[in-house]
Amino acid sequence: MRRACSLVFAAVALIQSADGQKLVANYNESKVPDYDLPDPLLLAGGGRVSSVAEWEEKGRPATLKLIENEMYGRMPVGKPAGFKVVLDKEEEDAVGGRAVRREYLISFAEGKGPEVRMLLYLPKNRTGPVPAFVGLNFRGNQCLEEDTRITPELGYVVGSRKGEDRRAKAESMRGSAAGRWPVAMIVESGFALATACCGNIDPDYHDGWKNGVHPLFTEGDPKPDEWGTISAWAWGLSRLLDALEGIKEVEARRVAVIGHSRLGKTSLWAGATDPRFQVVISNNSGCGGAALSKRAFGETVGRINRSFPHWFNGNFKKYDGNEKALPFDQHQLIALMAPRAVYVASATKDQWADPQGEFLSVLHAQPVYDLYRKSSLGVTEIPAPGQSVGSLTGYHLRDGKHDVTPEDWAFYLAFAKRHLGEDLR
Ligand code: GCU
Repeated sequence: MRRACSLVFAAVALIQSADGQKLVANYNESKVPDYDLPDPLLLAGGGRVSSVAEWEEKGRPATLKLIENEMYGRMPVGKPAGFKVVLDKEEEDAVGGRAVRREYLISFAEGKGPEVRMLLYLPKNRTGPVPAFVGLNFRGNQCLEEDTRITPELGYVVGSRKGEDRRAKAESMRGSAAGRWPVAMIVESGFALATACCGNIDPDYHDGWKNGVHPLFTEGDPKPDEWGTISAWAWGLSRLLDALEGIKEVEARRVAVIGHSRLGKTSLWAGATDPRFQVVISNNSGCGGAALSKRAFGETVGRINRSFPHWFNGNFKKYDGNEKALPFDQHQLIALMAPRAVYVASATKDQWADPQGEFLSVLHAQPVYDLYRKSSLGVTEIPAPGQSVGSLTGYHLRDGKHDVTPEDWAFYLAFAKRHLGEDLR
C-alpha cells in the first residue's frame, strides 16, 4: 500500500481537550482498529437486498431511518407553510460583467425569524434556464467577493466572538473566501451559484438547540432522535432549493449541492434526505461526513461530540469511544445517493479528516450502485494526488491542506457538467 504509507503521518498526536483531558488522535494506519463494515445491502430483519425495487422499498428507507435516528436527527418534512422568498437586490454587472447577482430573503414562518439571505449568481451568457450549485458558507456572503455591494452579514457567523464589532469584522472579511468560491469560473462554466451563511439557519454553537430554525418547529428540548445543527443546515439547503424552484432562470431539477468540512457533512446529509439534489459533493468533510467512523483515524466520534455537541443528535453520543457499536457507517450514507451522482474529495495534509477513510466510504457504497448497474469508481485504491477517478461516484485527493480551492472546483465543475450539463459539454 504505497499510497497508504504516504498518507500516514507521525505516529500519534496528543491533543488537549477542553476539559484538560489528554485525547489521542491516531494517524497511524497500522493502529486502525479491526472493524467490520456493515453490508449496505443487508436487511435488518434478515435477508439481503437483491434488486433496485427491494432497495428502494426496504433497504434505502431503513438505512436512512437508522442514520437519521442514531446520528443527524429527524428534521421537519418539506417546505413549511409560512415559506416566503422575496427578491431584495439585483445587479446586472457583477463579477466583471460575467454575472447577474441577486440577493433574496427567505423566511419560514410569518413574522418570525430567522431570515436567510441567499446570494445568487446567474451567468450573463445564458440562453435558457441554467443548472446550479448550492452550498452554505461559513462567514457571510460578503466573503465571496470584494465587491462592496454585497450585503455584509451582521448576524452570527462561524467564529463570531462576543462583543466584537460585527460590522467592522464583516467588512474586514470581504473577499476572504474568494478562493473557496471561484465565482467567475463557475458562471463561465454555465452554472448558477446560490449560497447563504449557515448561521442564518442555525448559529454554530451549543445552546440546547434554542436558536436558529429549531424553535420554529420543535417545542422544548429536542428528543435524542431529533435534529442537531447539521440536520438544521441540511434542512436549510432544501429550502434554498425550494427557493430556486421558484426562480425561472434556474433549472431546479439540475442542482448540485456542495459543502466544505462541517458544511460538507451537511451537503451529504442534505443529499441523503432530499433526492431532488442530483449531484452531491463533499469537500474534506471528514468525521461525521464521508470518513468511515469505525477507522477512528484522526477525528473520532468521541472527539467530535465533545467539541461540537450540537452538530449531531443525542443518540449519537452513545458511540463516543465506541465506534464498534455503531450499527452503520458512512459508506451507507454515500449509498443513499444512489443512483444519483456523488463526489468526495480529500486533501493530503488533512489527516484529521482521514482521506483514506473518505475514499473507502465511496468504495464501499459500490454494492448499492451495482444494483443500478451503474459504473462507478473503477479503482480499489486511493488515487495519487491530483487525479480524479470514477464516473457516477467520484473521488480525488488534492495535494495540500484542509480547504476548497480552484483545483477542487475544476474537478467539481467537470463532474457536474458530466451529470447535469447536457447543454454545457
Ligand atoms: C473542525 C472539526 C471538523 C470540521 C472542521 C470544519 O476541525 O473537528 O469535524 O470538519 O472543524 O468544519 O472546519
